[in-house]
Amino acid sequence: MPETTASIDSAARVLEQRILDRRARVGVVGLGYVGLPLAVEFARAGFTVTGIDISADKTQRVNKGDSYVGDISSATLAPLVKAGKLTATTDFSAIQDLDTINICVPTPLRKTKDPDMSYIVSACQEIAAHFHAGMLVILESTTYPGTTDELVLPMLAKSGLTVGTDFFLCFSPERVDPGNPKFQTVNIPKVVGGVTPACTEIGRLFYSQALEHVVPVSSTQVAEMVKLLENTFRMINIGLVNELAVMCGRMGIDVWEVIDAAATKPFGFMPFYPGPGLGGHCIPIDPFYLSWKTRQAGIEARFIELAGYINGQMPHFVVEKVQSALNQRGKPVMGSRIHVMGVAYKRNIDDLRESPALDVMMLLQRLGARLSYSDPFVPSLRIDGTDVTASPEETSGQADCTVIVTDHSTFDYAGLVARSCLIVDTRNALKAFRDQKIVRL
Ligand SMILES: NC(=O)c1ccc[n+]([C@@H]2O[C@H](COP(=O)([O-])OP(=O)(O)OC[C@H]3O[C@@H](n4cnc5c(N)ncnc54)[C@H](O)[C@@H]3O)[C@@H](O)[C@H]2O)c1
Repeated sequence: MPETTASIDSAARVLEQRILDRRARVGVVGLGYVGLPLAVEFARAGFTVTGIDISADKTQRVNKGDSYVGDISSATLAPLVKAGKLTATTDFSAIQDLDTINICVPTPLRKTKDPDMSYIVSACQEIAAHFHAGMLVILESTTYPGTTDELVLPMLAKSGLTVGTDFFLCFSPERVDPGNPKFQTVNIPKVVGGVTPACTEIGRLFYSQALEHVVPVSSTQVAEMVKLLENTFRMINIGLVNELAVMCGRMGIDVWEVIDAAATKPFGFMPFYPGPGLGGHCIPIDPFYLSWKTRQAGIEARFIELAGYINGQMPHFVVEKVQSALNQRGKPVMGSRIHVMGVAYKRNIDDLRESPALDVMMLLQRLGARLSYSDPFVPSLRIDGTDVTASPEETSGQADCTVIVTDHSTFDYAGLVARSCLIVDTRNALKAFRDQKIVRL
């Protein structure tokens, strides 16, 4: 056998065997909404997992078995920690003892809507400082196509080691949907693409030990683009129904009824619903990673820009609805008491990132409204530099207008309708109620 093939075989075979017999030491860098559930799945599958995060608060909580991620209960986490299957640290030198590393750090946008790669770069600098032969590194953070090959690979290759023979590098998009009771890390199909075929094969083998279904693809760029297609598809379709909601509002047509009726078509249609605007760490952000990258190639991503504009207008549209509903009752927004129900960016989770509720509340506050809010998942928040504390749902009874921004399932909607004098419902949460005081989006 030629020497090169023997060396490919030896590094890959050793790692493969360690993965198969659970001796591979697994590392997860970034223990947030994505990283902690992933670390838990590998620990549950029998691997010894080390989570690494820059937040001492998070690593301490993990080591106490105290979960801060909604989808992972402390009852699930604590036994894994107690059994020594999962530990967390802020010390990146732990990398030198690891065989695999999944990178799950944030990828926000800068104010200019350009990708902020600083978290990936800083995580990779730490990995490179403790890198050794035989490792599998997988980037999971959502990013523009080309990141793994153009940004991560050169940082790791500085070690003098060769990808595909001495070490293995893949991209695998994270598709977690926080709060989804049906699909969680373990049963969401996992797409993985490697820099070389050997990388893809090791990546596939690795994930298939802990997750139910793995989908190998031919390159890191395909895997990166898969995630951007999924989220861009969603963002554009939400933009379309948001525009439809504005049109229907002008024409006096109930957009919710239109969508429900259209959704009875058994083929060629998928329902998306309007709302107060996009939120979270994915849908409002990821498509701009794609448009930034395509701009480098001289292509304007026009669908993305247009949907981004329409979705960005929705908080203003909601505020206009509130203004006009109050005006019809002879009240200006200035001085009115407005109670917001639900401020997390979506139902039944505690994540406030990019939440449209923050924009709606800021706009109302700037118009002089006196604000309060209820959210069982968000005890306090800051609007325009002012701290606001959550109040009980019953507070809505004292408000001039209640705005349902996020339709948590724990809310008592019948009670809300009974006690409120005016409700602007941006989620069709009050679908079952017919009452003059309800104004729908
Ligand atoms: N949250 C979601 O629903 C979701 C879904 C799919 C994909 N994603 C993507 O997954 C990635 C992670 O998202 P998330 O929601 O888990 O973010 P998060 O903010 O919840 O978690 C990221 C973690 O990384 C840590 N961190 C930051 N810099 C670090 C560094 N240099 N080294 C080690 N740790 C570091 C942070 O302290 C934090 O704990 C992002 O790219 C996001 O777009 C998120």
